[in-house]
Amino acid sequence: MSRKKILAGNWKMYKSINEARNWIRVFQGSKKGVLHVDILLFPAYTTIYPIGKEASKANISLGAQNLHEAEEGAYTGEVSGKMLVEAGADWVLIGHSERRILFGEHDERINLKVLRALISGLKPILCVGETLEEREANQQEDVVRRQLIEGLKDIHPDDLYQVVIAYEPVWAIGTGQTATPQDAQEMHSFIRSIIGSQWKSRIAESIRILYGGSVKPDNAKELFACPDIDGGLVGGASLKAETFLSILRAF
Ligand code: 13P
Repeated sequence: MSRKKILAGNWKMYKSINEARNWIRVFQGSKKGVLHVDILLFPAYTTIYPIGKEASKANISLGAQNLHEAEEGAYTGEVSGKMLVEAGADWVLIGHSERRILFGEHDERINLKVLRALISGLKPILCVGETLEEREANQQEDVVRRQLIEGLKDIHPDDLYQVVIAYEPVWAIGTGQTATPQDAQEMHSFIRSIIGSQWKSRIAESIRILYGGSVKPDNAKELFACPDIDGGLVGGASLKAETFLSILRAF
């Protein structure tokens, strides 16, 4: 089964609207020849709408870095799925380790967010991954299995075709320490096997699984060559269009 590759940039809490526009200009100027990859950007909420036109001209889809699980309500400071769609988002990151660790988001809430994203018409990227402590205790598979099964609970199998998984080992995020292609491939294949055994093998074969955690131009090629790695979710190295383009060329 051939799965279309994805290269996604998670800008976290970086980049003003103007900086985002400049990024797209540089990207657009030299991206030729890599149209077979889905390009996604995850800017701050406030940047999604203002850069919508430029992004669409450059064939870039936009997403949000989070959403609230309720349809609407008295939740000061929160943003709903419907608002994100209205602002031009097609995608949403859910369960990023920074949300889990810094903002106390647990599997149950992450699951509600995945369900809300789907109801709202957003394609969720469910992020999973173990901490260094968990890996050192050899618990990485248990942790990832739990995050997947809990995170995707009650989702209609047909809706799983809309979902993308991102494996982001916490110890590799922003540390410069990447999982080896072998370790990453092993975990991606494990994730695919969990999806196959919990749901259907057809879903497991078609679901896209991204690797995230210190992806850089010099390690991207080896990572993306692994059979179960369908692309990358890039943090730091996505902030410069030139670097992101170098990663894109690794496909
Ligand atoms: P880095 O690429 O900076 O390690 O960040 C990865 C990440 O968190 C993407 O969501």
